[in-house]
Amino acid sequence: MATSVNKQWWKESVIYQIYPRSFNDSNGDGVGDLPGIIEKLDYLQHLGIDVIWLCPFYSSPNDDNGYDISDYYGVLNEFGTIEDVEKLLEEAQKRNIKIIIDLVVNHSSDEHQWFVESRKSKDNPYRDYYIWHPPVDGKAPNNWVSFFSGSAWQLDEATGEYYLHLFTKKQPDLNWENDNLRKEIYDMMHFWLQKGVAGFRMDVIPLISKKPNLPSFPAGFDGNFPEFYASGPRVHEFLKEMNREVLSKYDIMTVGEGIGVKQEEVNAYVGQSSNELNMVFHFGHMFLDRQTDDMLEWKQWSLVEFKEVFEKWEKALGNEGWGSLFLGNHDFPRIVSRFGNDEAYRVESAKLIGTLLFTLKGTPYIYQGDEIGMTNVAYESMDDYNDVQTLNAFKEFLANGGSAEVFLPKAHLSSRDNARTPVQWDNSNQAGFTTGTPWLKVNPNYKEINVAQAVEDENSIFNYYRKLIQLRKRHEVLVYGDTDIIDKPNTKIYAYTRTLEDKQVFVVLNFSAENTEFQLPQNLAVKVEADKVMLSNYPVVPHTGKENLSLKPYEGRVYLLF
Ligand code: GLC
Ligand code: CA
Repeated sequence: MATSVNKQWWKESVIYQIYPRSFNDSNGDGVGDLPGIIEKLDYLQHLGIDVIWLCPFYSSPNDDNGYDISDYYGVLNEFGTIEDVEKLLEEAQKRNIKIIIDLVVNHSSDEHQWFVESRKSKDNPYRDYYIWHPPVDGKAPNNWVSFFSGSAWQLDEATGEYYLHLFTKKQPDLNWENDNLRKEIYDMMHFWLQKGVAGFRMDVIPLISKKPNLPSFPAGFDGNFPEFYASGPRVHEFLKEMNREVLSKYDIMTVGEGIGVKQEEVNAYVGQSSNELNMVFHFGHMFLDRQTDDMLEWKQWSLVEFKEVFEKWEKALGNEGWGSLFLGNHDFPRIVSRFGNDEAYRVESAKLIGTLLFTLKGTPYIYQGDEIGMTNVAYESMDDYNDVQTLNAFKEFLANGGSAEVFLPKAHLSSRDNARTPVQWDNSNQAGFTTGTPWLKVNPNYKEINVAQAVEDENSIFNYYRKLIQLRKRHEVLVYGDTDIIDKPNTKIYAYTRTLEDKQVFVVLNFSAENTEFQLPQNLAVKVEADKVMLSNYPVVPHTGKENLSLKPYEGRVYLLF
């Protein structure tokens, strides 16, 4: 029973994530930019999205493509100017599109003025903006490792002390214990909100509070680094303060990258009465196909586990919190290559995955290019890779005696560059992304997979996404209804109802490349019939729910049972 539905615009919105570097290049230098985004706003409006999440566009030496910020008020020259940001906000608003921006404040760039000062001397006023520690027995203060390979500590010559960096050594962690630092961050947030941004996606936000005394991983540590680093003792105090000082003063939305957040604690972050954030991204489904002890080792994911992830998170959030739905972003492989079939059934399976994204409970996030079914890329040489995570892992692999031949197929599967190849706009040179040489090679399949084709083709993935978005807008049950899974142990079919008061939707998704039969429970069988199919990725043939439903490879259907 859906009781006391608390309606909010950001629960009803569809979000579209833009990674500016790879989106659209307006001036032929090979790098996507802000004017390039403005050129494509009509396209996004046509798709039907409500909010853009804009990945970092700030001044940065680009060690981690903008997630290493050297000036939170500045705009990366390659991307444009502050006037371009203002124009983008204005043009988006004309089309009823809001923009949220990335807030990257667990760390800055080592080229940020604060760090330049901080490293100068132990008594510099900015020393304490970062986390410094003297060597212990001539070595790093503890055994922590970076998410991007190697120790999380870097010895700095000037003062002979180590600084902490949970990401690259050019991304020193900020010290949130310092009151002045927090105040400076809140001021910066006000600056962007006053420019008219509609909220923030907060990068690795659960990591801002560190464990006191920075203890080493315990003996026999289970390898779950995100959980170990996340949710330190002051994290909720900091987020409540941020909410009080900044967020609560505007009508905005916030979504935290919920790295390491456990189900049982999620409402401490997003519960209505917690006064912190609106949503977090959880990552349960992002690791079902990886061996936890080695991110580069893959295994077959199971549909049953996949269903359980979404079920458990929805339950954990209950009526108190709200979820976000994403299947991929700039850090993960392409969704059709990962959860679908990017060969024989690319179109069918991309539509199937889209159906899941827009019919589960939570706010859906589309990552650029997924609406046309862009796929992973398989570069022939490691020289073609750019992502610092991939390159650091490769270096480590070589140092341990590995070879490029063995590493390359791993990169094909897991590199973040899979999601970062330029958006494929048309079938002209460089996929219409740039008139120059792109910073990262385009996927050679752009002749077949591109926006121009997809917009024209009535049966394209793009036009199916449009229908899904419209369907979600027309039927509140798709936003606020509760989910009940049917036949959870089924290894091929993901089926569920969504229910809101007297309204009910039934969704059935065949996550396999085979024709599959599905038997409905009695109470549903009497309601299901072909006439009630609102959307399907195959032509609908006459049927009722009293016989088994026969589903084609990757077939998905949405029925409105009222
Ligand atoms: C987040 C970002 C990722 C970045 C990391 C460090 O996980 O999504 O792209 O590398 O934080 O900022
Ligand atoms: Ca450019």
